[in-house]
Amino acid sequence: MAAGDWIRVATRAQIVQAQGLGVRVGDRRVALHVYRDRVYAVQDQCPHRGAPLAAGCVGEDGFLACFDHGWEYDLATGRGRGGWEGCLEQFACREEDGAVLVQEKEPREDWPEDWFPPPPTFDDDDD
Ligand code: FES
Repeated sequence: MAAGDWIRVATRAQIVQAQGLGVRVGDRRVALHVYRDRVYAVQDQCPHRGAPLAAGCVGEDGFLACFDHGWEYDLATGRGRGGWEGCLEQFACREEDGAVLVQEKEPREDWPEDWFPPPPTFDDDDD
């Protein structure tokens, strides 16, 4: 598989309204959600503190709410609600014969250091 390839990640029946599904596409975790009978594919990691967005819920207005602290993102644009400048990475997605396909992207080597929180650190003294 390579960037630009369409990857079959799920059946359409696996993704039901108001329940997301987390899948892997290349080096990315992708959350699939349905809104108004269309499937959307966005990064499966909340920019706030990294919770899986596949576990979030889509509201009547098409915003995906993270289950952890409630930050919300417009599925259609990826933008956060309320003027927040952050944005979810989006993926091209289509349906074919009951299957959901997501287009693979180039591997990322340039994640901004502050995009996701750093991993926790532990003091050696706490062993
Ligand atoms: S981790 Fe998603 S809102 Fe905090």
